[in-house]
Amino acid sequence: MIILAFESSCDETSVAVADFSEGSRRLLSNRTASQVALHALYGGVVPEIASRAHTEAISSLTYDALSDAGISLSDVDAVAVTSEPGLIGALLVAVSFAKGLAFRYSLPLVPVNHIHGHVAAAYYEHPGLEAPFFSMVASGGHTSLMDVRTAVDFVTVGRTRDDAIGEAFDKVARLFGIPYPGGAAMDALAARGDPGYIKFPSAALDGLDFSFSGLKTAVVNHVHSLSQKGLPVPSEDIAASFTAAVVKAVVTNLSCAHDRFGYKTLVIAGGAASNSHLRKAVAEFSENRGIELCMPSPSLCSDNAAMIAAQGFFEFSAGNTAGLSLNARPTSRTSEK
Ligand code: KG4
Ligand code: ZN
Repeated sequence: MIILAFESSCDETSVAVADFSEGSRRLLSNRTASQVALHALYGGVVPEIASRAHTEAISSLTYDALSDAGISLSDVDAVAVTSEPGLIGALLVAVSFAKGLAFRYSLPLVPVNHIHGHVAAAYYEHPGLEAPFFSMVASGGHTSLMDVRTAVDFVTVGRTRDDAIGEAFDKVARLFGIPYPGGAAMDALAARGDPGYIKFPSAALDGLDFSFSGLKTAVVNHVHSLSQKGLPVPSEDIAASFTAAVVKAVVTNLSCAHDRFGYKTLVIAGGAASNSHLRKAVAEFSENRGIELCMPSPSLCSDNAAMIAAQGFFEFSAGNTAGLSLNARPTSRTSEK
């Protein structure tokens, strides 16, 4: 079965084609147009600029994704699209476009939750991966721990109470004059610093929740205090110590979740899951506990439509299609525990 998928929930427009015939999980094309340069000027994503840029990009990306895959629209069996959560005006661009195609070609229309999509990115490079498993999405907008009971049944058991992980990286990066989004540059900066330079407060709360806002404020206060005293600001050491605190919080909560759920397989996805320090620590944790770890390559961690195609396939298989009155939703309808 050939799925054509669309993603426009934030600042990447993406179109992908994937083949899920007879148990295969083959990504045939995945075209993404990033708007990072457009938003960098403002230090964050400007919703209206995002919607306009999606509108400009989506048709030609679709053309390119189909031609990369060597297929035409008449070969497509279903259309999948991110319908929640995200910036509403941005989401509506791909939702409307997908609906137009579903209408014209009488194709099933499959709505996909963006956070579930991030997790589904892992299916391509881990062909044996099957629910049940445990998952964490660490992105610019979300930090969620989810018990994935079936491929379409996600129960959120932990989440951030304030900033998302990627957002915390971006805010600390801004303190060092690094343009938005600063996560990747922080990764490189931290690699050159001493993680033991200072101990920042923990971001892991009781239960499985996180709070990254207090950690970020501790970094801000430390930098301001050094500047006020006229002392040098060792950005590499601060980045390394901040990253160590983030990573420690993640491992702490994954470890509590393992004690509670006894999961055998763990998926970590989302833009901030590209972080090399996080990847290393989670790999060590998984190895020590005998957990099978599935992390998409960094190119599939950031927002893309390949992940929407994968989750779209499972949603379609479970009968979760939508009518042509499908709307976008800014918030998620995930189950909470
Ligand atoms: O998943 P994503 O592309 O978009 C959202 O759904 O939010 O995640 C983007 C976030 C940004 O905050 C970015 O700074 C962060 O992921 N990020 C990183 C790294 N690469 C991207 N954070 C830490 N280390 C990285 N290597
Ligand atoms: Zn995302």
